[in-house]
Amino acid sequence: MMNAAFTPSYGPASILEVRSLPIPTPKPHEVLVHVRASAVTAGDLRVRSGDFGALLSVVGRAFMGFFGPRHPVQGTAFSGVVASVGDAVDRFAVGDAVFGSSPSGGAWAEYIAVPADGALARRPENVSHAEAAAVPYGAGTAWHCLNDLARVQAGERVLVLGGAGGVGRFAVRIARHLGAHVTAVGSRASLDVMRELGADEVLDYRAVDFATLGETWDVVFDTADASSFRHSRPVLTERGRYVTLYASLGVLVQMLVSRWGRGPRALFAVVAGTRERTELLADLLSRGAIRPRVVARFPIEAVAEAHRRAEQGAGGDVLVVPSASPEQAA
Ligand SMILES: NC(=O)c1ccc[n+]([C@@H]2O[C@H](COP(=O)([O-])OP(=O)(O)OC[C@H]3O[C@@H](n4cnc5c(N)ncnc54)[C@H](OP(=O)(O)O)[C@@H]3O)[C@@H](O)[C@H]2O)c1
Repeated sequence: MMNAAFTPSYGPASILEVRSLPIPTPKPHEVLVHVRASAVTAGDLRVRSGDFGALLSVVGRAFMGFFGPRHPVQGTAFSGVVASVGDAVDRFAVGDAVFGSSPSGGAWAEYIAVPADGALARRPENVSHAEAAAVPYGAGTAWHCLNDLARVQAGERVLVLGGAGGVGRFAVRIARHLGAHVTAVGSRASLDVMRELGADEVLDYRAVDFATLGETWDVVFDTADASSFRHSRPVLTERGRYVTLYASLGVLVQMLVSRWGRGPRALFAVVAGTRERTELLADLLSRGAIRPRVVARFPIEAVAEAHRRAEQGAGGDVLVVPSASPEQAA
């Protein structure tokens, strides 16, 4: 048996229960990972509270479960050690340190069974389990949006709205890694964090509206639902891109229309982890191009507290460490 955080229905952090559940048995193509750390992200908070946004509220619940998560052990991003492998697995062996993500959850537990060919990679030796678990969500999303979708080029100007958030922190680093000049926008309290991450310029969103500064950008990456295509368009260059993580009917129409016309484009993404991207993140981690900012670790028994801390906008990554001994996350 193992300890796991159980989400019986959608609701506040207090809804979470710690239960003793059977350790999953890996199928032939799966590996069983002994989880050493798993992340609590803004995406996880949305699932726990059943907040899928206006446009996706029905679709989200149809997909995730109408009255509570279909998979009551949630948590998507994790790092740990392979405890056993299915008969058909030759990509990993018992004892390998790995990290990755599971779209259907299962990471807030002592063990998780995941497809060996899924969003899983070897953990680089220069990072801890806690740091590796903090990467797939924010860095995976930021990489997909900036590199695959917006195709940021060296020398371009990128503006990140929410530059100290779970996705934005990695977006600032990744945009810099791609050779862009980065303007990061966040609250006053987060200006130093965004400077430390390498932003060339930082803006306090309560003090200034970036769209009134008379500057232009090639990419506006809106991780905070703080702008819109209409609001950003006047400050985007001719081939500029507005990228948002928030689904709305408006942005879906703008995506279609702006695809065919001249001028800036609107882009929206729903990002899920892949094997290729997780391996790429491992490479970025090993080269020091991205570095998580772990600010708090909680034992699984305190998973509700971990959620409350994440809800406060921690300015860094919040981890659940399922093992009784938190040092094992190192
Ligand atoms: N579509 C997808 O596939 C996908 C993938 C990942 C995430 N998401 C969604 O994307 C959203 C962001 O995720 P996250 O993890 O980055 O959330 P987060 O950690 O809560 O970060 C949001 C950041 O935005 C900042 N912010 C708030 N208002 C702002 C404004 N007006 N201008 C600029 N910044 C502002 C916040 O700063 P303060 O708290 O300091 O005010 C915070 O740092 C979540 O809703 C998540 O569900 C979607």
